Amino acid sequence: MLGFVGQRSSSIFLYRGFCHPLRSFPGPFLARISKFWTCQIHIGGEYHREVRKLHEEYGDILRVGPNELDINDVEAIKLLYGISSKCIKGPWYDGPASAGDTRSIQSTRDHVTHRWRRGIWAQSNSVAAINEFQPLLLEHIDEFVKMMSVSKEIDIGQSFTFLSFDIMGDLAFGESFDMLKTGKSHRFMTILHRFMKMLSILSAVPWITSLIDLLPAGGDIKEFENIARDCINRRRAKGSSRKDIFYYLLGEDKETGSRLNELELVMDSRTAIVGGSDTTSIALGYVTYDNDTFQLLTPFSCLFYYLILHQDKYKKLQAEVLQHPESPDNSWLGSLPYLNAVIQEGLRLMPPVPQGLQRVVPPGGMQIAGKWIPGKTLVSVSPFTVQRDPRNFAQPDTFIPERWLGEGPEPCNKDAWIPFSIGNYGCIGKQLALSELRHITSAVVRNYDLHFAPGFNVEGFEMSVKNDFTMTPPSVQVVLSPRS
Ligand code: HEM
Repeated sequence: MLGFVGQRSSSIFLYRGFCHPLRSFPGPFLARISKFWTCQIHIGGEYHREVRKLHEEYGDILRVGPNELDINDVEAIKLLYGISSKCIKGPWYDGPASAGDTRSIQSTRDHVTHRWRRGIWAQSNSVAAINEFQPLLLEHIDEFVKMMSVSKEIDIGQSFTFLSFDIMGDLAFGESFDMLKTGKSHRFMTILHRFMKMLSILSAVPWITSLIDLLPAGGDIKEFENIARDCINRRRAKGSSRKDIFYYLLGEDKETGSRLNELELVMDSRTAIVGGSDTTSIALGYVTYDNDTFQLLTPFSCLFYYLILHQDKYKKLQAEVLQHPESPDNSWLGSLPYLNAVIQEGLRLMPPVPQGLQRVVPPGGMQIAGKWIPGKTLVSVSPFTVQRDPRNFAQPDTFIPERWLGEGPEPCNKDAWIPFSIGNYGCIGKQLALSELRHITSAVVRNYDLHFAPGFNVEGFEMSVKNDFTMTPPSVQVVLSPRS
């Protein structure tokens, strides 16, 4: 038996290392042999930085797995993710993101089923739906601004996280998680964050999902499903006087009524909460967790980190926002040039989903970045790498919102900006996310001046940002004062 295993391992080693069709593509030797190379980097939360560094060392096409390439090329973005892409989602989506055959919209790989799921979601992200969500958004933001007024120093990332979870709870299930009010993280969020860490590590080896019940994480998944099921059942029982996301997902829209089953609803609620809160709060504010207790430590803000670092830009944004009437509205917020440039630049430097999203090359193979890529190869473009490549963005590591207004250094290649991905599988909540980002950012700068609290390690901040599928940054305290 041992002899058989040894013989089999040696042939896999020899094949993957020296005879595989991808053998001519460069990359670390261990990555050629096993996906455990990826898992181990994910454990340290360094995958986004490691891939960027390796591209600098090996070039634009990097072998990151036995059958997997990461490609740093703007033209590849359309080929892999664009509306007419021939590539499908890769086996990454079969990992812990799925519950057997039942999937969230995001982990659905079958094109026809995905189109049906997306049609249901599209209704909840139409311009009309987003405008209907606005009063609810404003209620939460008012509460948030009031809460800030009683503090001198706050954990801005934690506050943003609580705020965006409360908003998404209300938008998704018709009930706030009340984290801002209670000052405590909801169990839903705690479990979700543990799940995200596991997702980032285990999705590299999707077959391990069949053993998930034997791992400690298996219990978390079950608990998450139970909490989500309770939220959905309560939401279903009480109905809703307003159209929230589950209004559409539960098929309460009589014209188009959906037919999602209960587990699909549970899976989609996870996508809604991760999509709607984690990514948005990361874009706004950083969150970090202690791995054992999963307490939220002192978080900070990505966008606000850069704005506080560049006080001249903070003031410029404040001046733009103050030129406009008190009562905020999606339509005029969407047309403020500097506000939108600041948000774009924050998402460029710190895309909340920093690593490449896995796709499969069609069986006949295809030409990508000037090379012939064999059929069935797994491929991705990493937003963190492509958005910080000097060929796409001059001074790529510097926060320069002006570049989006044609007043910054060149180049500024808009096609290389992909924090929401693009195409048929790209973020369906993009407009809702941008609306949230505009409302919250403008409300904060309208009311407050922010500075780093004494003792904060400004220089060390970026390097401490970890990647657990979504970014998890270090803690930062902010001193706030009423706007001068
Ligand atoms: C700054 C905030 C956000 C960022 C950066 C972001 C990013 C992304 C990305 C990169 C994807 C593609 C994932 C993949 O291909 O595997 C995605 C998908 C998705 N996002 Fe977002 N997202 C954000 C906010 C939101 C919000 C507010 C919602 C609304 C509930 C949302 C709902 C979704 C859904 C449902 C999908 C799956 C789409 C599909 O498979 O067709 N996201 N998001």
